[in-house]
Amino acid sequence: MTGIDRPRRLRRTPAMRRLVAETSLEPRQLVLPMFVADGLDGPRDISSMPGVQQHSIDSLCKAADAAVTAGVGGLMIFGVPKPEDKDANGTQASDPDGILNRALRRLSAEVGDATVLMADTCLDEFTDHGHCGVLAADGSVDNDATLDRYVEMARAQAAAGAHLLGASGMMDGQVGAIRLGLDSEGFADTGILAYAAKYASAFYGPFREAVGSSLQGDRRTYQQDPANRREAIRELDLDLAEGADIVMVKPAMSYLDILREVADRSTVPVSAYQISGEYAMITAAAERGWIDRRGAILESLLSIRRAGADIVLTYWAAEAAHWLV
Ligand code: PBG
Repeated sequence: MTGIDRPRRLRRTPAMRRLVAETSLEPRQLVLPMFVADGLDGPRDISSMPGVQQHSIDSLCKAADAAVTAGVGGLMIFGVPKPEDKDANGTQASDPDGILNRALRRLSAEVGDATVLMADTCLDEFTDHGHCGVLAADGSVDNDATLDRYVEMARAQAAAGAHLLGASGMMDGQVGAIRLGLDSEGFADTGILAYAAKYASAFYGPFREAVGSSLQGDRRTYQQDPANRREAIRELDLDLAEGADIVMVKPAMSYLDILREVADRSTVPVSAYQISGEYAMITAAAERGWIDRRGAILESLLSIRRAGADIVLTYWAAEAAHWLV
C-alpha cells in the first residue's frame, strides 16, 4: 500500500514517542494539598481518602519536607480546628494562634523559601455552620461581610509566611478586596491564587470528611453551576482585573473543557485542582484491581496538563514526583 498517511511512524519506538510528546509532567508542576488538624499528636488517616492524612504540626513539617525533597512545586495548607473552636464568624481563621496560622509559621521557618507555601483563604473549615462565609440574618451567605473576614484572614496568613493565598470562597470581589487588604498592610509581595472557576461539585465529598466540615445544605448560591461555561470566563476576567497572580479551575477532570478555555484566555499562569473525589475514585477502582493505579494517576495528571494547566494540585503530588524523576 502506498500513498497513505501513516501517523503510526511516530509511535513506533519509545524513543520516537518521547521525542514527539507534546505535553510533559514534571514534579515542579505539582502542588501537594495538606491538612493540619488541631489537637493531634501524629498523623490520622482520612477514611474516604486512603493514603491521605490529617497532620499534627510536627508531622506536617516532616511530610512537607519529604514532599519538597521529592521536588514538588508547592504546598497548599488547609487547617482543621477543634470542633469547639468553630463559631459563626470563623474567628480562628484570622487568629495568629489558630491552627492554620501556627502551622504556616512553623512551615515557613522550616521549609521556607525552598518551596512555595500556599494557604487556603476560606472560612468553611472554621465556621460552625460550615459555609465559606458569614451568614446574614436570613441565613444566606453575606458576600460583603465575608470579604472583611477574608481580608483579616489573608493578613494573618501573609504575616505567618504564606507566599500565595488560595482565595477559594467564591465571593464576588474577593480577589480585589484581599489584594487591597494586603497592600495596605505592607504585604504587597504576597500573591493571590484565585479560584476563578469553582463549581458546586459532588466530587468534594471526601474533602468534607478531611476537614471535618459541619456544612448543612450546599454551596450553590456561591459556587458555580456545573451546567455553565460562560460564567467561568466571566469569573476569570473579573479575577484577572482584580489582580489575581494565578488562576484556578476546580474540580479538574470533569471540567477539562473549562480548563482549556481558561488557559487560552488567561494572561497569568493557570492551575487546576484534582480534588478529593477524583482521588477517591481512582484509589477505589485501583484497590479493586479494576484499573492500573500508577497508569491511571499519571494519565489523569497528564490530561489535566494537556487541557491547559501549568500547575496541578493533586494529593499524589509527592508520590508522582518520585515516579517522574
Ligand atoms: C472550600 C474548599 C473545598 C475544597 C477545598 N476548599 C470544597 C468545598 O468544600 O466546597 C475541596 C478540595 C477537595 O475536594 O479536594 N473552601
